[in-house]
Amino acid sequence: MTSPFDPTPLPPPECPAHASGGAPEPEVSEIGPGGLRRLYGPAHEKDPMGLYEKLRAEHGPVAPVLLNGDVPAWLVLGHSENLHMTRTPSLYSRDSRRWRMLQDGSLDMTNPLAPIFAYQPVCVFADGAEHERQRGAVTDSIARIDHRGVRRFINRFSNRLVNDFCESGQADLVSQFAEHLPMMVMCQIIGMPEEYDEELVQAAREMLKGSEKAIAANEHVMGALYRLVARRRAEPEEDFATWLVEHPAQFTDDEAAHHLRLVLIAAYETTANLIANVLRMVLTDPRFRAQLSGGHMTLPEAVEQTLWDEPPFTTILGRWAAGDSELGGQKIKAGDALIVGIAPANVDPVVRPEPSASMQGNRAHLAFSGGPHECPGQDIGRAIADTGVDALLMRLPDIQLSVEEDELRWRSTLMSRHLIELPVSFAPRPPQEITGPVIPERAGAAARDWQISSPRRPDPAASGTVPQPGPVPAAPRTAPPAATVPAQRRGSAPVRAWRTLVTWWRGY
Ligand code: HEM
Repeated sequence: MTSPFDPTPLPPPECPAHASGGAPEPEVSEIGPGGLRRLYGPAHEKDPMGLYEKLRAEHGPVAPVLLNGDVPAWLVLGHSENLHMTRTPSLYSRDSRRWRMLQDGSLDMTNPLAPIFAYQPVCVFADGAEHERQRGAVTDSIARIDHRGVRRFINRFSNRLVNDFCESGQADLVSQFAEHLPMMVMCQIIGMPEEYDEELVQAAREMLKGSEKAIAANEHVMGALYRLVARRRAEPEEDFATWLVEHPAQFTDDEAAHHLRLVLIAAYETTANLIANVLRMVLTDPRFRAQLSGGHMTLPEAVEQTLWDEPPFTTILGRWAAGDSELGGQKIKAGDALIVGIAPANVDPVVRPEPSASMQGNRAHLAFSGGPHECPGQDIGRAIADTGVDALLMRLPDIQLSVEEDELRWRSTLMSRHLIELPVSFAPRPPQEITGPVIPERAGAAARDWQISSPRRPDPAASGTVPQPGPVPAAPRTAPPAATVPAQRRGSAPVRAWRTLVTWWRGY
């Protein structure tokens, strides 16, 4: 596993630096030295949420844990404690070079988590003025994206993907849909639609898996990004790469290429995971189904509920204590490592006494973290997921899971839990002609209504309260994706029924 925030691929498994290379790893028990629970190994792999709840019961909102290699860290489980931590960078820095174990040399750099914590000169690891400079270039460039144009691509690319498998009557929605759509969209946004191909998707997958092909995959992706930076310096276009290189932050070529990789990979991994999770919920969860078929939930609301229940990042490593402090009743020492506990915070009984309760209309989840590093691409991620799932369901309204739900398999890492496959079946049907513009509209006035951050939760640091479940102002309704499947919309009864439902969900 490697971090979407960290471009450095893991060493290949046959490399001696790779912890899982050579002989198989010995089975690790749930409890490690000092009686601390391990955030790795079979217990974590099998049921991370169960493990978080044990930790909450034993330690409260902040728990001592062991990471791979029995490296100690604090897992922050509480919602308000996570918000406080992410919003107080003066105490909880994003710069991993503050880690005491790195400074005193006691941290083994062959640790499989090294690619996550090894410092890189990108905004993810920066604090203060440097973070503002680098992140400013990213957020200003995101703000120039024309969201209506993006929704059109998403719809178009979704239909292209469906065309590739619709005649067969079966598909794996993870490898044939969820893993491709974000890459197609991000290549278009960044300004290299011609680079999107199976090889790029494979390269991103290999980088994230940390497989033996990770280093070559990284070179493949970086080669494409450096070429793009050079092209856009010479010939500016209306795309993200141009806006980034032209930004007053004055990125060097290295900075520009590394931030493009950050955006590409951060968006790919998380959004693919979100799409798979939304589709699984739609296909398997009776509560979801009932709410959807009863017209009590829109598709963007279904995405939001998924962000509460199955956030694409379960945790983030992390933050590093800049000084001594107390958090959730624990004494944190300068140089300690802390983990943003996104999934446990989302089910913190303080904000969510009834975990099965619908969180409709409430965006106080931490799926996008909080504070100065809060995800700047969240509304693009949301748009890819809700428009993509919408387009898929429009085309294949009779879609069904083709295995039993308990046969679905997952892969858990420290930071995420991935569905490995989502096999579905449906009545075979012919591909559809895909029409509509591919070139984005020139960004301008339209870009201003691109919503960059959610209507946010109240700041507990300011009010002294934690956000409570319950209605908060709903997000403005998003523009409808362009219709690219008119023939099918006039089709069979199930299609009409689906369209009625979708119309209700969207509210237009
Ligand atoms: C559903 C999809 C997504 C999820 C769940 C997600 C989640 C996150 C989270 C949790 C963080 C914060 C990490 C921290 O606190 O340390 C983050 C940061 C970031 N995300 Fe996303 N993300 C998503 C999509 C995207 C997209 C589409 C883009 C780009 C267009 C993007 C670009 C970034 C960048 C550049 C950062 C680093 C920000 C900084 O350190 O200042 N993400 N993301």
